Amino acid sequence: MCGIVGYIGDKSPVEVIMAGLHRLEYRGYDSAGVAVVGAGKLDCVKSLGKLKELDRKLEEHPLHGNLGIGHTRWATHGAPSEVNSHPHFDKAKEIAVVHNGIIENYQELRAALQAEGVQFRSQTDTETIAHLVRKYYQGDLFAAVKRALQDVEGAYAIGVICKDEPEVLVAARHGSPLIVGLGENEAFIASDVPAIMKYTRKVLYIDNGQVCRITRDGYKIEDIHGNPVQLEVKTVDWDDAAAEKEGYPHFMLKEIHQQANVIRNTLRGRVHEGSDEVNLPDMNISVEELKGCEKIVIVACGTAWHAGMVGKYLIEKFAKVPVELDLASEYRYRDPIVPPHTIMIPVSQSGETADTLEAIRIAKTRGAKVASIVNVVGSSVARESHGVIYQHAGPEIGVASTKAYTSQCTAFALFTIWLAEVRGVMGKAQAREMIAHLREIPEKIQWILDNQEDIKRCAADPKYRDAQSALYLGRGYNFPSALEGALKLKEISYIHAEGYAAGEMKHGPIALVTNELPVVCVAVNGDTYDKMVSNIQEIRARSGIVLSVATVGNEAIRPHSEDVFYVPECFEPFSPIVVAVPLQLFAYYVAANRGCDVDQPRNLAKSVTVE
Ligand code: G6P
Repeated sequence: MCGIVGYIGDKSPVEVIMAGLHRLEYRGYDSAGVAVVGAGKLDCVKSLGKLKELDRKLEEHPLHGNLGIGHTRWATHGAPSEVNSHPHFDKAKEIAVVHNGIIENYQELRAALQAEGVQFRSQTDTETIAHLVRKYYQGDLFAAVKRALQDVEGAYAIGVICKDEPEVLVAARHGSPLIVGLGENEAFIASDVPAIMKYTRKVLYIDNGQVCRITRDGYKIEDIHGNPVQLEVKTVDWDDAAAEKEGYPHFMLKEIHQQANVIRNTLRGRVHEGSDEVNLPDMNISVEELKGCEKIVIVACGTAWHAGMVGKYLIEKFAKVPVELDLASEYRYRDPIVPPHTIMIPVSQSGETADTLEAIRIAKTRGAKVASIVNVVGSSVARESHGVIYQHAGPEIGVASTKAYTSQCTAFALFTIWLAEVRGVMGKAQAREMIAHLREIPEKIQWILDNQEDIKRCAADPKYRDAQSALYLGRGYNFPSALEGALKLKEISYIHAEGYAAGEMKHGPIALVTNELPVVCVAVNGDTYDKMVSNIQEIRARSGIVLSVATVGNEAIRPHSEDVFYVPECFEPFSPIVVAVPLQLFAYYVAANRGCDVDQPRNLAKSVTVE
């Protein structure tokens, strides 16, 4: 999980690294540290807790030099503590390592090193790397890192520095993300682009098994066996301001407000006004493969899985292909059947989620074609898939996913239209109509963003704000909306919340209904509206507090509801994209009113790169 940053150049390494780590704090924030080589010594400052603690300690104990590495941690091996925080060192404290990932054979390595007399300071898997590099060090850090990594199994992105080589930064990756940023007479390493956007747009995406020797004026990349590797320098076009809050109190609120534009970006270049065609060339699926496809498997985790459910409903309804939806963590361990002509669609904002990656590998070895929906360009999911639909949502910093979800749903809508047309189950007129509906979504989202008063008022109302738990109900296309609405509330406000298919209410959750239970009912106009109203009445009859999400103009729902959040009239199959917004805003304001750390909720991390 963790974020790493490294720097070599004339700026203050601490300044560059701390600015970068602040941008990566979404990756982990239980402890942090930085090490700098300067004036013939390697010095380090670490602290438990968030980065501001480290900032404070660095003021008391400044570090000077031209080379440094830093780390913000999300514990996997060993509790959050100063001693377990990175960087980790060899015995003489001359070699320092920061690491993101998990070394799977660290216990064997540790035992072997201990047998050779090495004493460990921490409980981490990372410390083994520092001792291994020392073991193989003979005056060439690059060579020692390559040799050490030959002994290592597992996932890593590492940055390594050595007291005796003040002009060399070594970085390597296998399974965890790592980029190298190239500047004028300076260079950077980082887990993610926002960490270095302030300084450079020229980036190398280091691939699995590659080790990079970086100096201020150049770099050399080899695999761990010393074979040379060439990588193309890419130019990142993300806007630097995108990684800042732009005046919003939290990234999550900013990202909620970006959604009208995000949907426009997801659609950009893929559909045109008045057109009946969708253009998804990067999916890398041929017309023959689409026509011959007999089954689609969607795998994902968390919010992305909810988007996958929206995708399942759309694809089955309009493209008439059977869809299996699975949590990636279940799929990878259940010996799934992958019949011939299966297309897998993994969904992942980060593109680094360990379970999703493993599900892809399994499906590929069993013959599936894999085309993923991913936000982060060049991420592992994107690279391991045969094709991709990039979401173009921009960096999502808030741990709770918002704009990534709505853009994933939009990507599914695009794919559905394309698939249905190619398979001849959707005519041009219907495709044109569906595309027109999609193109209207941004303005509907904007309407909600411009009319938030009721949402804010309710979120401040003690009957919602101070609730012990809440129930979210929806049917059909909006069953995933209920799941996603509940997830948003629980993960950032810590109010226990459950999403349910409204038809299941009588099979259990109705037992929970009391005059203290808020029940959020998604009851927008559409095929299942009447059924939702019946459920709402059943809840009211038991004194539950009904908070309805309904279509503008529906006054009839008011008498059955304590409160109503209105959304504009919407083509029902695409309504989850619109309905998500008031549910996100409600969760946000409830959490903010409860004083919660909205962007970095307790125990959660943005990118789950371990099982
Ligand atoms: C974490 C995040 C969620 C996200 C899930 C899947 O739990 O907090 O917001 O939905 O991982 O992540 P992915 O990057 O694969 O979409």
